[in-house]
This record gives sequence, structure tokens and C-alpha cells, in this order.
Amino acid sequence: MAHLTVLTVPDLRLRSKALPVVAVDDDIRCLMKDMLETMYSDDGAGLAATQVGIHKRVLVLDLEEHAPGLGPLKIANPEIIWRSKETQKNWEACLSVPGQSALVERFVSIRLRYLDQDNRQQEKDFHDWASVCLQHEIDHLDGILYVDHLSKIKRQMLIEKAQKFKKNKKEIVTL
Ligand code: NI
Repeated sequence: MAHLTVLTVPDLRLRSKALPVVAVDDDIRCLMKDMLETMYSDDGAGLAATQVGIHKRVLVLDLEEHAPGLGPLKIANPEIIWRSKETQKNWEACLSVPGQSALVERFVSIRLRYLDQDNRQQEKDFHDWASVCLQHEIDHLDGILYVDHLSKIKRQMLIEKAQKFKKNKKEIVTL
């Protein structure tokens, strides 16, 4: 099993738009497995392939702690085919913007069409925390970060703070 390196701001690879996978085959299943491993070891709840520099529309998440029954999810080619009118502001954080968090407005519920790990097409409704996480991860596949939903001033401040956070953390680890 491979631990992948998670890219952080301002890495431009985070701004690439990912391409759909042709099918969920053994290579993609292997990627999903490595991504989950990386996500767990970095203490994340979700991870998009874009964040590890692979520009394929693949994401993983594990919300078991917040939403029982939504244990490890492996998703390819996610497509939001319905959004609730209702929106809600939630605190979000991201492995690619280390050490920061902010309130972001998202749709409360979404209906998602996607390929599962067995290459079967699924259609499923997600609500609340699961819906928020999926919107956040799908944004990554389009080169969008949660800070892009904030004002320019707030965005720049969070990106700068994230860079400082990462630098200080590294210095502590190497001592
Ligand atoms: Ni993220």
C-alpha cells in the first residue's frame, strides 16, 4: 500500500480539472485504496484524486464517525443531478489548506450519480454532513477549493496562514 503526498496551497496542480475515468478497473481500485490509506493517515474525512496530483474524477470519504452507515465510500465520475433549494453554512477544513477552517455555504441535500468500486452506476441521495463533504470533494475535481467560496480577502488570508502553518509544522518535525 502506498502513502501518497497530499498537495497544499498554492500548488497549481490543485487548480486542474480532472477527467472522467473510462471504467473503475483494478488500477482505479488500487488508487482508491491508496487514497483511503493516505486520508486515514493524514486524519482526513475525504480526499479527491486532484489532491494527490492525479487528475482523474475519483474521490474517497469515510463519514462513519459523523454519519453511521457512510463508512468508506469510493466514488468515480460523481455527478450532482439534483440539489435542494435549502442551503446551510458549515465549518469546513481541507488537507490541502492545512490548519485552517471557515464557514462555507452548501446545499443541504444532493442526489449523486456515480460509479462505485465495482464499476456499477449508482444514484443516491446524501444529506447534511455527507452532502457537504461530497460537494467539497467534487469541487476539488474541478480545481476549486473551499476558500474560493469566501471573499477574496478571507481567501488570501487563509492561504497565507496555511502556508505558514505547513512551514512551522515541518520545522517542528525536523528538530
Ligand atoms: Ni479538501
